[in-house]
Amino acid sequence: MKKMLPDMKRRRLLTAAGLTTIGAVGWGLKPSADGAPHNPYFQRLSAALKRHGMATPTLVIDRQAMLANAKTILGHIDNRMQLRLVVKSLPSLPLLDVLRHQTKTDRLMLFSLPQLQKTAHGKCDILLGKPMPIAAAAEFYRGNPSSDFVPDKQLQWLIDSPERLAQYRDLARGQNLQCLVNFEIDVGLHRGGINSQRMLQDMLAILKSEPRLRLSGLMGYDAHITKIPNLPGLQTQAREHARALYASYASTVLAALGNDGMSKYGGAPTFNAAGSPTYRLYDGKGIENELSVGSAMLKASDFDTPLLADLVPAVFIATPVLKTPEQFMMPFGVEWTGNAARMWDANQRKSYFIYGGNWLADPCSPSGLHPSGLYGTSSNQQVLLGSGAQQLRVDDIVFFRPRQSEAVLLQFGDIAVFDGENISEMWAPMPATA
Ligand SMILES: Cc1ncc(COP(=O)(O)O)c(C=O)c1O
Repeated sequence: MKKMLPDMKRRRLLTAAGLTTIGAVGWGLKPSADGAPHNPYFQRLSAALKRHGMATPTLVIDRQAMLANAKTILGHIDNRMQLRLVVKSLPSLPLLDVLRHQTKTDRLMLFSLPQLQKTAHGKCDILLGKPMPIAAAAEFYRGNPSSDFVPDKQLQWLIDSPERLAQYRDLARGQNLQCLVNFEIDVGLHRGGINSQRMLQDMLAILKSEPRLRLSGLMGYDAHITKIPNLPGLQTQAREHARALYASYASTVLAALGNDGMSKYGGAPTFNAAGSPTYRLYDGKGIENELSVGSAMLKASDFDTPLLADLVPAVFIATPVLKTPEQFMMPFGVEWTGNAARMWDANQRKSYFIYGGNWLADPCSPSGLHPSGLYGTSSNQQVLLGSGAQQLRVDDIVFFRPRQSEAVLLQFGDIAVFDGENISEMWAPMPATA
């Protein structure tokens, strides 16, 4: 008994010391307050939007930033290959006009029938970026393409299989059409397309049996190269594999048809490759003679990659703050969870309810705002939390950075174009259809 007391004392002492240490370590992990009001750029953008009378969530494109990106991208390509603009990622005709003018390209890549119908006018060279069901192709011809657009020369349908090629052959025969077709080749992405020389030969046989069909080139998309894990050598291997496959399919079609047999009207065949994530991997020494780029022009946050580090964000969502409660509170019944969150994390002290939300986007200004992990999200009035250092008041503006441009540009009605001082134009987006 005599011996036990000191033992118990020692144990208690140890427990107390342990708890104190855990407490101290825990306190050390406690998040410290961060965040700040808008920086001068977003102050200027806020002021411009307010002067313009922004009333509801608005998509904003910074024209100078976008043009700077276009210039940088052209510099990267350096006339070694042609540029093709990816319309699905830049889905607004006035926006496309500006970029076509700036980059001096009439080459466009399309992915949807409604966008094709809107775009197929005047001087342009259209390549489909995905195979269209034959019903969509038939619908395009039924819709009477505009008189200043000649599909026989300006439109390359993408064909991924012998079966689809046979469907296009039957359409061309049935309606006495001349159709340009471009073959999709699988260079490692495994999203369909030609995956063997045998398959390519089968398709060449169908092609040669129908003079109404003409092969204009190949399309090999390689987005996997920068998406697979960057284990030593793996991305380089994927890149060399894609390049070698492209070269071998291209030499087969060139041997079968010759350069002249494939050119559309005197020009070179279309050997299309790449996209925003990978266009920088091409130096023009391979057979690929044109690169597709869309998203990189606006640089949504999914494109914050090392290869695109010298491009700048040019697209934002702006939305008004509707409510700024004294402090972040969880709903009745579970209020204690909000109290605990506030006590633990200084960046959950303050809540801001915004107009709209739940977009494919993340808050970017003022800094230090984030969605709540506790309070459910909302497309109607999303709550954002912060330390309060943001100093937001009702009717101030919060900015988000979209993660992609493709879907987000279609969601907000007319796009506000920021020229550095003012909102100088509004650009209509394309209709939100698939
Ligand atoms: C065939 C093809 N080419 C290029 C691209 C690249 O588009 P972006 O430059 O917008 O990433 C895509 C994107 O999905 C694609 O499917």
